[in-house]
Amino acid sequence: MPKTVAVLGCGLIGSSWIAAFSTQCQTVKAWDPQHSVIRPDASSPIQWCDTPEDAVEGADFVQESGPEDLAIKRELYARLSNKLAAHAIVASSSSALLPSDLQAGLSFAERVLVGHPFNPPHLIPLVEVVGGRDTAPSVLEEAVRFYKAIGKHPIRLNVERKGHLANRLQAAVWREAVDAVATGQATVQDVDAAVTYALGPRWALLGPFATFHLGGGSGGLAHFIDHLGPVFEDLWDDAKRPTMTSELKRELIDSTQKQLGGLSVDELTLLRNDRLKSILRIAALQLSPETRTSTVEKLNP
Ligand SMILES: NC(=O)c1ccc[n+]([C@@H]2O[C@H](COP(=O)([O-])OP(=O)(O)OC[C@H]3O[C@@H](n4cnc5c(N)ncnc54)[C@H](O)[C@@H]3O)[C@@H](O)[C@H]2O)c1
Repeated sequence: MPKTVAVLGCGLIGSSWIAAFSTQCQTVKAWDPQHSVIRPDASSPIQWCDTPEDAVEGADFVQESGPEDLAIKRELYARLSNKLAAHAIVASSSSALLPSDLQAGLSFAERVLVGHPFNPPHLIPLVEVVGGRDTAPSVLEEAVRFYKAIGKHPIRLNVERKGHLANRLQAAVWREAVDAVATGQATVQDVDAAVTYALGPRWALLGPFATFHLGGGSGGLAHFIDHLGPVFEDLWDDAKRPTMTSELKRELIDSTQKQLGGLSVDELTLLRNDRLKSILRIAALQLSPETRTSTVEKLNP
């Protein structure tokens, strides 16, 4: 049981962080301006607080998950300085903001970083850890240790960039997905099928580099880059930036709803989370050097 953790902002992401922390941490203190009436039972490790100052008092680690708005986040952080313990780390779930912008001018700037999860954080292991100009390297190391201790898979990014890493990867795929529909190349349903029935299952097991290593046959990634690398470079040059017109937006929304056959967001979330657990159990068989031996053993029992 590593830490007392505070969660500030308990919407989609904050609530899921609470679920993740509550099985791994002794105490989870939570605050949200719109959730002040929620009170869990006494045996729960969750303490609902009336103010962000109360929530961070005594916390070792703060996971801020308020709205994606720099001014709101900075205003919130400014309230914390008097109550924050001298060792406490403040991690923002921000999807795209730069940690240097979040921490600028704060008395505890060296302990502010981005700890970006993926929805839903209680199931998806990845957390992107990014420091800003003023973040102390030891704080980044401590954050990585913390996320590992609660069962996450943190990756530390060495350069702060808008959208961090994985959202930039998503943005590249989303650009092509939207462009395919905008140009009439494919339907929403077929774009989703291209991911669900080809890219997604492979990527769940191996990332783009390892996947293309296999794409090079016995010559591996070296052969792939020599053989098909120029094709992909040509496709990079061919990339178009679609414009999200109101007509295109309507088409994307209507076609997505149609393909889901009336499933509600809650129903689809339950279905997705249930299947996600099975995929993650299989994906845990990674070919990293540490796990290679045990993986090979598992693959050849
Ligand atoms: N939605 C995603 O897929 C996703 C994934 C990863 C990270 N994030 C990031 O997580 C953060 C939260 O996103 P979300 O999708 O949970 O949004 P959300 O709208 O579901 O939740 C935001 C919560 O913040 C609360 N709030 C409002 N004003 C606040 C304030 N001043 N201080 C603290 N909380 C306040 C709201 O009441 C709400 O409950 C954002 O920074 C977002 O970029 C989102």
